[in-house]
Amino acid sequence: MAKHLIAVLPGDGIGPEVIAQATRLLELYRDERDLPLDLWHLDLGADRYLKDGTTYPKEIADRIAKEARAVLLGALGDPRVPGLEHAKDILFGMRFGLDLYANIRPVKALADRLVPLKERTAKDVNLVVFRENTEGIYVGMGGQFKRGTPDEIAINEDVNTRKGVERLIRAGFEHAKRHGNKTVHMADKSNAMRHAHELWYRVFFEVANEYPGIAAKHVYVDALCLYLVQDPSQFEVIVTCNLFGDIITDLGAAFQGGLGMAGSANVHASDPARVAMFEPVHGSAPPLAGKDLANPIASFLTVGMMLTHLGWPEEEARIERACTKAIIDKQCTKDVGGALGTRACGDFLISEIERSF
Ligand SMILES: NC(=O)c1ccc[n+]([C@@H]2O[C@H](COP(=O)([O-])OP(=O)(O)OC[C@H]3O[C@@H](n4cnc5c(N)ncnc54)[C@H](O)[C@@H]3O)[C@@H](O)[C@H]2O)c1
Repeated sequence: MAKHLIAVLPGDGIGPEVIAQATRLLELYRDERDLPLDLWHLDLGADRYLKDGTTYPKEIADRIAKEARAVLLGALGDPRVPGLEHAKDILFGMRFGLDLYANIRPVKALADRLVPLKERTAKDVNLVVFRENTEGIYVGMGGQFKRGTPDEIAINEDVNTRKGVERLIRAGFEHAKRHGNKTVHMADKSNAMRHAHELWYRVFFEVANEYPGIAAKHVYVDALCLYLVQDPSQFEVIVTCNLFGDIITDLGAAFQGGLGMAGSANVHASDPARVAMFEPVHGSAPPLAGKDLANPIASFLTVGMMLTHLGWPEEEARIERACTKAIIDKQCTKDVGGALGTRACGDFLISEIERSF
């Protein structure tokens, strides 16, 4: 069987610490379960940028696009690089360059005690956000005029194409269809953003017509935040633009026990054979870096999503069970109520998974 080439980029801050544990998991699958995984370790990130100016070389980008099946990315962002030059080149180089238009972010609580909402339990927190990943305000179009003067003007353009909006919305409905969900919500701000989000509103109901068994529900994003806190159980699939998806999934992570618990996938959803990129939702958390404090569970759940993408969904379920046990037995890091370090939590998860084979 041909091997799946997996590019591994630990990145900055806590990235290398959590990806070291996630890499042990991939090695376990490769060495003990004979999964055909070929790990390709890449030295890219802030350290490399500060050493020789390298961000995301074309030959690496080309090989990832042509040969890799998946990328595992830690996080990017380092206070020594305030302009985030390397982070933009790498992260956007992958998301935009590989046209990974759907950022899929499950919001699922693994244990009741992690849910901070009054009278809500883990069963109330199980939804998935489809965030548009290649357009919106993140494309970097715009500019500054009269910078540093009292008359300064700063503009960021919000780019929304019919193609981009339609394919993201369709990815959300396809997911709902595959998983037997009854509703898809679309969150926008079409009352204020009359041009861009009127497009989202119109396209949402057009695409919804193709899925008669699924209720299509529109919600303004500000109201969505209110409803999420009041009762997250009313949501199954949420589709939204790049900026809103980024924000509401941090809110969602709070329902899961924090950013150390949230994994994600970046995919070209209409063609699962194409390379996809997997990353925990969290950033590089500089204050935690190098202290063995970072929670590795988000990275384990992220590897689970990767294994489903590669055709082994039962392994994602196995990894999730081990993560749930780590939380319930308090064999976890401080942010989720345990007393273990990153490495020791990784040890527990690896031994649980190994034991369950
Ligand atoms: N995709 C990415 O690479 C990505 C995403 C978000 C932020 N960033 C970058 O990361 C840097 C820090 O950003 P931030 O502070 O806004 O977000 P962050 O996600 O790094 O941290 C937010 C909060 O969550 C906590 N946290 C995050 N991950 C954790 C983990 N694994 N275990 C325990 N606690 C965890 C942090 O301690 C902090 O309190 C910035 O440079 C930012 O640009 C990168």
